[in-house]
Amino acid sequence: METQTSVELNKDLKDLRADFPVLERQVKPGVPLIYLDSAATSQKPLAVIETMDEFYRMSNANIHRGIHFLAEEATLMYEKSRARIAHFINSPSSKQIVFTRNTTEAINLVAYSWGRTFLKEGDTILLTEMEHHSNLVPWQILSAAIGTKLEFIPVTPDGLLDLEVFHNLLDLHPKLVSFTHMSNVLGTINPAKQMISDAHQTGALVLLDGAQSVPHFGVDVQDLDVDFLAFSGHKMCGPTGIGVLYAKRELLEKMPPFLGGGDMIKRVHLREFTANEIPYKFEAGTPAIAEAIGLGAAVTYLNSIGMEPIAKHEQNLVQYAIDQIGSIEGVTIYGPTPEQKGGVVSFTLDGVHPHDIAQILDDHGIAIRAGHHCAMPLHDKLQLNATARASFYIYNNLNEIDHLVEAIYNVKNIFGV
Ligand code: ALA
Repeated sequence: METQTSVELNKDLKDLRADFPVLERQVKPGVPLIYLDSAATSQKPLAVIETMDEFYRMSNANIHRGIHFLAEEATLMYEKSRARIAHFINSPSSKQIVFTRNTTEAINLVAYSWGRTFLKEGDTILLTEMEHHSNLVPWQILSAAIGTKLEFIPVTPDGLLDLEVFHNLLDLHPKLVSFTHMSNVLGTINPAKQMISDAHQTGALVLLDGAQSVPHFGVDVQDLDVDFLAFSGHKMCGPTGIGVLYAKRELLEKMPPFLGGGDMIKRVHLREFTANEIPYKFEAGTPAIAEAIGLGAAVTYLNSIGMEPIAKHEQNLVQYAIDQIGSIEGVTIYGPTPEQKGGVVSFTLDGVHPHDIAQILDDHGIAIRAGHHCAMPLHDKLQLNATARASFYIYNNLNEIDHLVEAIYNVKNIFGV
């Protein structure tokens, strides 16, 4: 049964905007929406909206439980979606795709299940200074509970990871290295394949936070040889409330369940249970069924465009944005050169708080994010309270960046800077 709205192969990126109804909005009369906040959440194409609508209209039932027609149809749709996602990241098996609520929950799952079982007091976990709170706090909680130690790969003034220090820190023989594939603030794309290989040579496992990478360029878990990969549906054209943990099969087999309840068991007695097979062992309770099916539609949609054209498009946007925004007097852009980063431009403007920038841009219909972007330690390192962040996706164009630049000049006029 094919439930996806059909989309042509290799859709021209110029024609994409019509797939996203929200992009037709005016935020006030005569002021069209310019959405530059896709690192926070992406917009959703009709293919995803209609797939979820169709599911609720025609196929809604609980999965893995019923033997009636609708239950079997819903189960098939849910499992087909899992298979699509497995294929999207080149997972050897769909059994290695665990549905979670989001990246945060996927990382917490690893910290609770793997961390509390296989780590002990004094073991080192190596993180970086550019992590999102979701890849810091779970390890802080674990360390408070069992006494693991946290070490951090520093960020250089260019916004890159200091790989020399990384190699020195590997001498501590960390049990886990956990880092972001792409920084949600600096846009830095970290050299994951090399770092994973280096970490493996010292015996460490590696968790990659793919929240900002999987939506934007091809991520191949077998090529990377990564042990755990976490990502969210809502940043890749899918709905909120659905995310993924990929892990190597032998790890998932050995890890105990994270949450207990329905669906994650084979047998339950009054005082004990037998866990289900992977991945169901980690999916307790009724899952986000429509959302998982929506994420499958999102993956089909992204595949119809191709991850290489998507990455190239964003590379063009970020190059142009850095040239244009960077030439405005008083602006500082954070992060490495365009070749080393994805579609995220965080900046400050001398004499104006980032929240004021965001407020005035909003008057121009431009949606950006201002604040610490859930990366307070990185902002501490940069000695900033906040930055303004424009982030791009498949539906953005150069014209929108021109409007952004004009609006920043208006901010300067208003503040007299
Ligand atoms: N992590 C998301 C962001 O960077 C919410 O905006």
